[in-house]
This record gives sequence, C-alpha cells and structure tokens, in this order.
Amino acid sequence: MLQLWAFVLVFGGIASKNVAAFAPPSPYCVQSRVATQPLRRGFSSSPIRLSSPNDFDLNDDYDDEEDDEPELLDKLLGKKLGINIGSELPGFTPEEIEELRIQAQATLDKAIDGRLADIEALREQIQEDLKESKERMKVASSLNAQVEKQNLLEKIDRLTSDFLQGNADFRESTKQAAAADRIAATSGRGVDWGSWGTVGGLDVIVGSSETVERPSKLLGSVDSARRRGDLSVESDDTVSMPTENRILVVSDGQRDKGSKRVIDELGRLLDKAFDSDITIDTYSPTSNIPMGGNNAQTALIFAYSLNDRSSLENILGRVLKRTAPVAGGAAGVPPSHVVIVSSLGTERTNKMPYSMQNMFGGKLDKLREIEQAIVAISRSRIDGKQKPLDYTIVKFGEVASSDGESGTETISIQPGDQLDGEIGPNAAAQVLLQAMAFQPYARNSTLCSTGLLPSGVTIDAATWNDKFLCLSGPELLRIEAGRGNEVDDGKVLDPKFEQLAQYVKEWSSVYEGDRKGTGLTTPVLVRNSRKGPSQFDGVIAREGVRLLFQTTNTGDRYKSATEEKQDEKERNSGSGGSAVKKTSGSAPVSVKARKEGGVEVLVEKTVDGELRVRARRCNMDHKTIVKEMSEEVIVSNLKKAVKAWVDARGVTGF
Ligand SMILES: *[C@@H]1O[C@H](CO)[C@@H](O)[C@H](O)[C@H]1NC(C)=O
Repeated sequence: MLQLWAFVLVFGGIASKNVAAFAPPSPYCVQSRVATQPLRRGFSSSPIRLSSPNDFDLNDDYDDEEDDEPELLDKLLGKKLGINIGSELPGFTPEEIEELRIQAQATLDKAIDGRLADIEALREQIQEDLKESKERMKVASSLNAQVEKQNLLEKIDRLTSDFLQGNADFRESTKQAAAADRIAATSGRGVDWGSWGTVGGLDVIVGSSETVERPSKLLGSVDSARRRGDLSVESDDTVSMPTENRILVVSDGQRDKGSKRVIDELGRLLDKAFDSDITIDTYSPTSNIPMGGNNAQTALIFAYSLNDRSSLENILGRVLKRTAPVAGGAAGVPPSHVVIVSSLGTERTNKMPYSMQNMFGGKLDKLREIEQAIVAISRSRIDGKQKPLDYTIVKFGEVASSDGESGTETISIQPGDQLDGEIGPNAAAQVLLQAMAFQPYARNSTLCSTGLLPSGVTIDAATWNDKFLCLSGPELLRIEAGRGNEVDDGKVLDPKFEQLAQYVKEWSSVYEGDRKGTGLTTPVLVRNSRKGPSQFDGVIAREGVRLLFQTTNTGDRYKSATEEKQDEKERNSGSGGSAVKKTSGSAPVSVKARKEGGVEVLVEKTVDGELRVRARRCNMDHKTIVKEMSEEVIVSNLKKAVKAWVDARGVTGF
C-alpha cells in the first residue's frame, strides 16, 4: 500500500511538472493532449498512463501513440531508475522502510528530474528542428524552383558549349558555303528577273537585286519567271518573250467607290515601281474582258464586284485562255498570277460583326465561295498541259476615307482571316503592290490587312518582307526573346543564340516517341529544321525543329479538329467500338507518305541582332487537314517555354 502511495505521489509530481514543462508549444495539434490528458490521467487510478514522453514522438502518425506508450514508460521505469522497489521491501523494519522510502524518493526525484531535464532538452531540440524543418518546407518550393532553374541553365550552358565545340568546324564551313552560294547567285543566274528565295519548294534564285535599295520585282507566276530565266541563261535563241509589264484589273468602280480609290492609288504606285513601264487595263465584270487577258502577267480581281463563284469562273475562263498567235506574232501568254481582293470575315460569318454583314443575301458566304474557287482553279491546273497559276487572296475591311496623318501608320498584315477594321486607300494599294510584285510568300496564300499608311511614309523593302514573312507556313506564333550577343569580327557564333536554339531543341524532345502526357492526340516525329538563314527573311542565324504529325492508327486520313472532338465524345461516353469508321473501299493506300502537317519551330537572329522564336505550319500540301488542336497544344507550350527562358534571362541577367 505504501509503495503504491509512493508511486502515486512521485508520478503525480511528474504529471504536474509535465503540465508546467510542456506548456503548449505553439502551433502543434498535439498541444491539447499535452495540456489536458496527462493532467487528468496523472491523478486517475492509473498513474502509469503518463503520456509525456510520447508527445515527442515525431511520428506523424499520432494515432499509433496509444500502443507505444506503455512500452516507453516501462523502459523509463525499469532501466533508467535501476531499482525494483517492490521486491526489495519485505523483511525491513518500519524505520528502514521509512529510510528507504526517503532514499527512494530522493533517488526517484533526482532520476526523474534528470530525465526531465534531458527530456526538456530533447523537447527544445526537437522543437527547434521542427521549426527549422517547417521553415525549410516553407522555403523549399521557392528554393527548389531556384535550384531547378539553375540546373536548367547549367544544363543548357553545358549542352551549348558541347554543341559549339563539336560543330564549330562544320558550321564554319557551312557558313562559308552559303556565302559562296550567295556570291555565285549574285553574279550569275537570276539577275534578269530577280531573286525570291525559295517559294513553295520552287528554288527561285537570289539575284543582285536582293539589295535593299532595289528590291527585285516579279509579275506573273514564279514558274513562268523561272522559265524566262532558264531561257535567257541557257540559250541565245531569239524567242521573243513578251516583256511588257501588264496588269489586268477587274472591278466595278461604279458600284464600289472604295475599290476605285484603291485602284487609282495602285496605278500611281505601279507607275513608280516600274518606271512607268507598265500598262494597267481596267474592266468592269460585265464588260467584254479580252481573251487571254491582254497578255497581262497578273490579273487583279475585286471579288465584291462579282456576283458569285460562277462569275469568277466565267471571267477566268476567258482571261486564262491561251490565244492563238496572230499572223507573225508570238503565241499569247495569259496571266499566271491572280490576285483576288476579298473581305474580312468570310471565314468568321458566325461572329459579330460579320454575322450581321452576312445576314442579308449571304454576302460573305458568296465571297468565301469565290475565294475557294480561285484556290480550286489554281490547284486543278493540269501539269504539263497548263502553266502553273499562282494565286493570292487579300482581305480588306471597309476602305477608310483618309490615309491618316504622318506618324499614324498602323498597317498590319496577318495570314488568313484574323484582323478587324478599316484600311486606308494607300495602305491597301501598297499591300496589293507588294503582293503582286515583291512578296514571294504572298504566292498561293491568303492574307488580311488593316490600318493606315500615310502617303508620305515609305516602308523599306526589309520591313515589307518582315510583314509578309508571317504568310510563310503560315506563322502560328512569334515571340521576341531579347537581343543576341554582339558577335566580334571573325567569330561566327552567337552563344546566346545557340543557347536558345539548344533550349528549344531540348523542349521539343518531349514530344518525341510516347505522346502520353504531351496532350497531343497524334504521335509526332521530331526532326531538325532544314531552313537556313535567309537575307530575304531578315534572318542571319536560324536553327529549328520540325514536329511532324504522324498518321493516326485509326485510319489513313488525318483527323480534323471536329473529328477529334467527335472521337473524344465517343471515348468519353464509352460507346467505343461501334464508332469505328470504315474508310471508303479497300483500295491500296499510296506508298508515298502523306503530308500530315506539323509545326516547325524556328529560332532566329535577325539582321538587327534580335532573337526571336517563331512557329509555323509545315509538312503541308493541299490534301493536308489542319490539326488545330495539336497545333494549339504545341504552340501554347512553346510560348510558356520561351517565356520561361526569357524570364530566366531576366533573373540571371546573362
Ligand atoms: C501555287 O500553286 C500552284 C498549284 O498548286 C502551283 O502549280 C504553283 O507552282 C504554286 N506557286 C508557287 C509559287 O508555289
């Protein structure tokens, strides 16, 4: 009885000390247990249920606490105190027992005080650790991000320098070869009809007129220009090719005052560009337009002067017809480039304000049909029998009443049907002049243009080229990435540019192979870009990758965005198998790989020393169905990646 009392006394003491010593350490959830339970338990019938040591168990799993507790206490009692009071007591006199009790009490107190001191130290240490680790956790994320960024930058640096070392010779020689080519081109072929770089796979030789002061100009198709070039280079034969510059314009000036203003302006610009050595014939759509189009090289047709698609077909039926040679003369050469002026919004008739414009009589729908007709006519030319026909579709909004004050130039050009707003007459005429005579990327493409260009303002050739560059592909994204490094004389490579190029290549490798987690619905092949630097594009260094879409295994045809969505729906609704479409017939699929489309990512350093990243469509022909969803995924990820690079550049100031 006595010893039990002693225990109660001793442990009661501990318990109350506990409460003081373990006054709630601030934010931990354990605190309520420490504060209340030991107190209650300490004075209950079972003093063994001392909970304190366990409160320092850093096990996250507080639920396991109950099981561990007695064991820990046993250890404390048995080993640490070193006495088994119960077994020692029998056979002693009450004095001895009293003496022992006092000693035991002292020993116990001392031992337990010692333990408590230890425990307190431990508690403090743990508390400290906890605080630290909590602090650590708090800074961990930002720290990690920093470390990751650093790692990434170091990795890029390493890759870049490896790459530079491994390729220096090769790249030096490539550059020399390119320079040699340029010199050859400058002195040789192509001089007659100027230089246009490469257009749609056709190699149009760069000539001396590449110089900015005298940009090369070209009327008619690129193909016919090449024929002329070949003829004049390969033989001295006296076949007289019509060299007169002629443009045929079809427009109803009565019906459309806006286009009349544009045509008048264009006439002046053409006269200037061709030193008055040019003839412009203007016809209304209902007049008797001459067969063969008067041998004009270019036909400019204002679509909103026409009734519909069949009007265009009728007109082109006449204009593109080869005329028989008249006595003594050469055979006629009909236009080989058709420029169609259409309207903004023809591809957005479901959106305001175009839905309103289209409401009565489907005006925009009719224009859209005309646009489609010219593309179809160009594509259906029979190889070998008919001369290739280039087309350009130019979309304008309303023609503004003025060209604006100087300093207000706002002219912009985009591929397709993206812009909204008016265009000034001078701006419109300038864009048409560029599209007809100066811009290779306007061939076989659709562009839209808005804004003003005050008549006093001149835009140099390089700037025009840059404005039209977005038509190549067309372009899906352009991000400026800051200035490149200055490259000293004698050095070839800009490390900054190379670093960005390596970074983009690293980024692209994610898409190779397994497409899980890339968000793409199609597998992708990653290949290097084959596009080199180009004076015409205003690019002195260029590297890149092509992400080439592969055939999906569900069919031989590429899935369109609508089909992708449809498939998704079917997958989600779990209807599965029944949705499998049968491809028509079982005709053997052609062996030649289809062009399934893709995204080419180009890292460029411009002639002005700026770095930029562009994404453009690639791997396309006119059978390719554009894979908009996958394009979007790639482009938006690229945007993020390049932004991260630019931001990192800001942080490290490199
Ligand atoms: C434009 O497209 C037509 C038809 O596909 C083709 O014959 C012509 O060579 C193309 N022109 C250019 C410059 O690529």
